[in-house]
Order: sequence, then structure tokens, then C-alpha cells
Amino acid sequence: PKALIRLVRNLTKTNSRVLDKGEYAELYSIAVKREGQGRGLGKRLLLTIEEMLKADNINQLSLTTDYYGNESTIAFYKSMNFNVLYEFIAYPKRRMYRFIKKI
Ligand SMILES: CC(C)(COP(=O)(O)OP(=O)(O)OC[C@H]1O[C@@H](n2cnc3c(N)ncnc32)[C@H](O)[C@@H]1OP(=O)(O)O)[C@@H](O)C(=O)NCCC(=O)NCCS
Repeated sequence: PKALIRLVRNLTKTNSRVLDKGEYAELYSIAVKREGQGRGLGKRLLLTIEEMLKADNINQLSLTTDYYGNESTIAFYKSMNFNVLYEFIAYPKRRMYRFIKKI
């Protein structure tokens, strides 16, 4: 039941000071097996997703990721030219980034 409450409260993950019209495709999650990380696979995966979106005339991609204790994933998205759109607090007290990229 607690997970359900968290899910519903996080359906509109946003920051009230930033206009977010949701005009982007949203990446929920990608992952590379631990032993395969750091070899360019994540980059290839993301670039492939971007090519698929472009073929569908979608020109922005967004995602949310943790603010704290998440340095390597943040470095990965920044190296892939994502910018911070805003920060927000997910229910109950999880500080997050929303990243966005023009593709
Ligand atoms: C995040 C993740 C998908 C990246 O995949 P990866 O295969 O390890 O990353 P790549 O080897 O393709 O790296 C691509 C770029 O990101 C940068 N990067 C990746 N990990 C980095 C790190 N720990 N620190 C700094 N830069 C990093 C690299 O500089 C690289 O750029 P380059 O090609 O110019 O050298 C992978 O590490 C992962 O599965 N992590 C755990 C799950 C996760 O956090 N998923 C995201 C949920 S929001």
C-alpha cells in the first residue's frame, strides 16, 4: 500500500516554479550490467533510443534521476549533453533532477 501511495503522489513530478509542459519523450530507466559498465554500452543504448525518437519526429528527451549519491549517473547524462531542467522533491523526501536534451 505504501508503494501505491508513493506512485500516485509521484505521478505529477514537477517543480511549481518551472513551466513544464511535458513536451518530451520520457526515459524511465536504462541500465548496463555492472561488469559491462564504462565501455561505451550506455552511450550506444542512449544514442539508439535518440535515433528511434528522431525517426518519430520527437525532438526532446527527458528523464528524472536522484540528486544525492548518484554522481556517476549524473556524469553520464551530462556527458550525453543533458541539461538540468529543474530539481524537485519526490514523495516523500527524495530530491531529484529532471534532465532534458534536444535531440
Ligand atoms: C548509467 C549507465 C547506464 C551508463 O552506462 P555505461 O555503459 O557505464 O556508460 P558509457 O561507458 O557508455 O559512458 C558514456 C559516457 O558517460 C561518461 N561516464 C559514464 N560513467 C561515468 C562516471 N562514473 N563518471 C564520469 N563520467 C562517466 C563517460 O565519460 C562516457 O563519455 P565518453 O564516451 O566521452 O568517455 C550505467 O553506468 C548503469 O547502468 N548504471 C546503473 C543504473 C543507472 O544508474 N541507470 C540510470 C537510471 S536514471
